[in-house]
Amino acid sequence: METFRPEKNEKMSDNSFKFMNFTFKLMDFIYPYVKKRSKTFGISEGMTVIDYGCGPGRYTTEFAKIVGEKGKVYAADIHEMAIAEVKKKIVKMNLNNVETVLVNGYNSPLPDQTADIICALDMFFIIKEPTEFLKELNRLIKDDGILIIDDRHQKRSKTKEKILKSGLWTIYKENKDHLCCRPVKS
Ligand SMILES: C[S@@+](CC[C@H](N)C(=O)[O-])C[C@H]1O[C@@H](n2cnc3c(N)ncnc32)[C@H](O)[C@@H]1O
Repeated sequence: METFRPEKNEKMSDNSFKFMNFTFKLMDFIYPYVKKRSKTFGISEGMTVIDYGCGPGRYTTEFAKIVGEKGKVYAADIHEMAIAEVKKKIVKMNLNNVETVLVNGYNSPLPDQTADIICALDMFFIIKEPTEFLKELNRLIKDDGILIIDDRHQKRSKTKEKILKSGLWTIYKENKDHLCCRPVKS
């Protein structure tokens, strides 16, 4: 049996990425939803945040403004085009507190306990091996850190089932937009 490889099985085509980027630009032009939403995750000045599955970085740049010069944002994605888009944005916006991270499968080169907050937005529904994915996020979060994760194209019950089945996170708060999780550290 062939081994499951997220970088092969989950990564969208370049054309799909371009289309997604165009759609996001249009949406963000019409309604400043990302800016407004970014303020609801509990991110504050000086924090280290990982925007996991950052796409073209529409949240990354908002997070960078919130954490400020004393903080840090890692923009992580499996797609090279996402990394290239974020790099373009941070140069254009002169943001010195953002680092891009190309993810290989469910593995990132970042050290253990990197983040105060990890945001996995509009991407969990894509993940085919949720426990493996959540294991990596558990490794990256600090003991008292928080994972913000949303449902998007899946039902809330499904999101919860995947999180709880992993045994690696507890859900301590939720609203219609996202769930807040704490790590279960071994
Ligand atoms: C629908 S986009 C959302 C982008 C961004 N979070 C937003 O809300 O604007 C999903 C992103 O998740 C990324 N992705 C999918 N599987 C991934 C994985 N295993 N690891 C990291 N990123 C992944 C895709 O490449 C894509 O950029």
